Parts: sequence; C-alpha cells; structure tokens
Amino acid sequence: MKRLAIFASGSGSNAEQIINHFHNRSLQVCVDLILTNRPNAYVLQRAEKLGVESYVFNRASFYDSDAIINLLNERHIDLIVLAGFLWLVPKNLIAAFPNKIINIHPALLPKYGGKGMYGQHVHQAVVANKEIETGITIHLVDEIYDNGAILRQEKCEVQLSDTADTVAEKIHKLEYEYFAETIEEYLTKI
Ligand code: GAR
Repeated sequence: MKRLAIFASGSGSNAEQIINHFHNRSLQVCVDLILTNRPNAYVLQRAEKLGVESYVFNRASFYDSDAIINLLNERHIDLIVLAGFLWLVPKNLIAAFPNKIINIHPALLPKYGGKGMYGQHVHQAVVANKEIETGITIHLVDEIYDNGAILRQEKCEVQLSDTADTVAEKIHKLEYEYFAETIEEYLTKI
C-alpha cells in the first residue's frame, strides 16, 4: 500500500478528486492525511466528509522544526502531493522526501510561475496578456517555486471572451482529468 499526504491551503477540490480517484479504484494507494496551513480552509471540511484525517500547522512548526517531517515519517508517507498549497516548501522537508513531492501549477511553466503566482493571479495575468493558450503543469518540487522537473503538461485554449473565472474553470477541468492519473503513474516508478 502506497500512502499519500496532501498539502492544501484552500478549497481542496483537487484534494477531493484525488481521494475519490484512489478510493473508487481500490488501488493499492490511499490518501492517509490532509495537511493545511489555514485553520479555516474548506479542504478540512472535505477531509472530514471523506473520512480522511487532517492536520493544521503554523509557520513556526513548518519552517523552524521537524514536526511535519516526523509526522509524515510516523505515518509512513510515500509521496507528498501539493494541491493548491501556497507556502514555499522548506529545505529540510525536500531533503527528507527527495523527488517525492509533486505540485500542480495552473499554468504552462515556466510561464506564470514563481512567488505570488497562484490561483486567480495566474488566470488574471493570462487574460491580461491575451494569451491564446494556457494549461497545467505537474512537476516535482525543489527549493525554488515552480522550478522542479516537469512530469506532465496539458493545454487548453484561451479565447478573447474568456475571463479569469472562465479560465479557472478550464484549468480545474484539466486538473481533475490529469492530476490523479499522473500521481498514479509516478507512484509506479518510486
Ligand atoms: C488549483 O488550480 C492549483 O493548480 C492552484 O490552486 C488551485 C487550488 O484549487 N495552485 C497554485 O496556484 C499553486 N501555485 P483547489 O483548492 O480547488 O484544489
């Protein structure tokens, strides 16, 4: 059994989709724990509804201690998934899980990546720049925001009539279609 931990800062619709993906297929994979830096994040309600344990942490325990690493090790986590998680992952966590942290970014990296580029900010920039396409990037996490090796990219068209909200919808559709599948493929290699 491979065990996943999902970090999410917000709504957690990707987290929910990943939990259901592995649950429905009864594969040898389970989402063991949801972690968040925001005590009021909606992902916590989703976790409760789906019967997945959750853990809330603060900046000090994330950046200045090994508390999270110890927790993940105690629970025998094989792979960490960042699904809408907005803090930079600290070096000690990356060192403890080398090539075992996957992120999803709502743009075609290296475009629209880096600090401050998340969620609606990305879609607003894509629309403002009149891009004709955007998409998703699923990649390994290293010490620099949105920089690690790319596992998969998928594209969608952007029309002049699109707004940040309609682009967000298209992006979520791609995420739900490809994120869990890409995690599943990656798990066969580690
Ligand atoms: C997703 O679109 C994800 O790609 C994005 O946040 C959204 C979270 O949605 N992540 C980033 O922008 C990371 N830089 P969700 O909470 O509904 O899964």
